[in-house]
Amino acid sequence: MSIFDATQKHYNAAGVHPTTDPDDPRSQFAVDRYENHLSKLIKPGMRALDLGCNAGRFTFAMEDMGAIATGIDFAEIPLRHAKEVAERRKSRCQFNIGNIAALPYKQNSFDLALLPQNNGYLSYQTLESLTVQLKEILSDNGIFIVIIHDELVKRAGEETLPERYDIQTGLIEGSRTIPDKGTYAAPWYFWTVAFAKYIVEKHLPLEQIEQIEENRFMLVFCNKS
Ligand SMILES: C[S@@+](CC[C@H](N)C(=O)[O-])C[C@H]1O[C@@H](n2cnc3c(N)ncnc32)[C@H](O)[C@@H]1O
Repeated sequence: MSIFDATQKHYNAAGVHPTTDPDDPRSQFAVDRYENHLSKLIKPGMRALDLGCNAGRFTFAMEDMGAIATGIDFAEIPLRHAKEVAERRKSRCQFNIGNIAALPYKQNSFDLALLPQNNGYLSYQTLESLTVQLKEILSDNGIFIVIIHDELVKRAGEETLPERYDIQTGLIEGSRTIPDKGTYAAPWYFWTVAFAKYIVEKHLPLEQIEQIEENRFMLVFCNKS
């Protein structure tokens, strides 16, 4: 099974959870972490794209900060919930089904793209192809925000890692048990901050790096021609 199929299946099975549901205050902690940093980057009326939006907590948060926000995800179940929340809130957020590897947007569609939380479900090739797409999709001086954990810091001392780690692709095998639903493959790539920075910087210059927590960084790239 490809990583796309496995990831889509896993997030559809996970569905909507109190800690990810934008309607539940228990999901807010994730947005709170970045709120101060994000609000400095979002200007009123900016067209913002939330990549891998799930049930939309970051999409709604960006709208609250003044953006015209769109979320995209390939897992239908959480995305359907995001649309219902938008309707209830009379939000202008748009939610599109689609794969980050082949975004359905034309040139100059957004001023900001956000890859929130972590990007371990993207291969090295997919992050690079996403960056190349964003060079077209973002406006001049549009920004690409990547939030990333460093797997080396996160996993140092994890004894089973060498058995699960594929040296040639960087893929770490893993699974997640979802109560009452079963066990799902949850593959993950070994990313470091330096590596993500190197890949995206090949196409978009780095503007700033902010450390959010000990092992959580926000990298901001700019679409300069
Ligand atoms: C870790 S979750 C983060 C969700 C959301 N950003 C949040 O904080 O609530 C990752 C999300 O990315 C989506 N995703 C992963 N790979 C994707 C891809 N190639 N194209 C579109 N969505 C993808 C998953 O379906 C999942 O909803």
